[in-house]
Amino acid sequence: MATVNRPIGVDDGLYIGLAMPDKTLERVYEEHSGKVSDRWSSYLSEYNRILAEYRNQPIALLEIGVQNGGSLEIWSAFFPNARRLVGCDINPDWSQLEFADPRIRVVIGNADSEEVQTLVLAQTPRLDVVIDDGSHRSRDIARTFARYFPFVEDGGVFIAEDMHCSYWQEFEGGLFDPFSSIAFFKQLADVINHEHWGVGEPPSNVLKRFFEKYEFQMADDQLQHVHSVEFINSICVVRKEAPERNHLGSRFIAGSIAKVVPGHWELHETSSYALDQARNPLTAKRKRADMAREFFARCARAVRRRAGMPSR
Ligand SMILES: C[S@@+](CC[C@H](N)C(=O)[O-])C[C@H]1O[C@@H](n2cnc3c(N)ncnc32)[C@H](O)[C@@H]1O
Repeated sequence: MATVNRPIGVDDGLYIGLAMPDKTLERVYEEHSGKVSDRWSSYLSEYNRILAEYRNQPIALLEIGVQNGGSLEIWSAFFPNARRLVGCDINPDWSQLEFADPRIRVVIGNADSEEVQTLVLAQTPRLDVVIDDGSHRSRDIARTFARYFPFVEDGGVFIAEDMHCSYWQEFEGGLFDPFSSIAFFKQLADVINHEHWGVGEPPSNVLKRFFEKYEFQMADDQLQHVHSVEFINSICVVRKEAPERNHLGSRFIAGSIAKVVPGHWELHETSSYALDQARNPLTAKRKRADMAREFFARCARAVRRRAGMPSR
């Protein structure tokens, strides 16, 4: 059963923190002497850059998968002004851990469950930074993204770690597996460019096969907040912004000399438009594949129903 662990024996009002605002994350890791944290070294330098803008802000952070709890102590030092640091782990032995920093909250249970989601959001209804270092299985990663991304603030970030697992069958992946977690995030890049598809379909359309396979949903109005997807070795970073910041915007023509290709000034401040791709076989291909998959899934459900078998 999922539980929340309050830090024990610490007076919230008296906590002064372990602020090390000028230290790099590598330095914080090097100097750390408390509970163990286990991370690949390249993440530390990347995190200095990815998390720089949140460093001194009153952020709320959720880390899924905290094992020995060391990373929460490290985030406590790295984010001196964080208002809440929530760690979630499925391992029930986690209940033994205590933290000196009262900003740290511990939720024990499967991050991909209603119960745990409710407990996490009870600690902080809005999130600025989410780090998924949990099971690394493709199903969990896609579903966890869908579960927590809606609660990330615009301007916030969702980070999935250890994406190398998405190339391994043992973690529900493979280099050309269309349902791997990295395939899911690659497809989010198409969501960002939704306005250019030229087929008048909602952004969620490209994710339908993941919705079906892993049994979850993401609403189009949430997907419109996906601002960028960045891939670094084994890390995927999804930034969230208000939808109006995710459009191409109008054309901006500067300069007055156009000796080679004239006529640009008329285009100044015009909007972009997508070329109609209704007849593009390479655009329609996926649509046909989706329709075929839906048809076969419906048939399979009907067969199972008639045979009195439980639906999957
Ligand atoms: C790689 S370790 C995390 C390492 C940690 N971030 C650190 O810095 O040391 C992965 C952790 O994820 C936890 N985990 C696996 N599946 C999970 C799930 N569905 N929900 C929450 N935690 C999960 C495991 O119990 C394990 O402790």
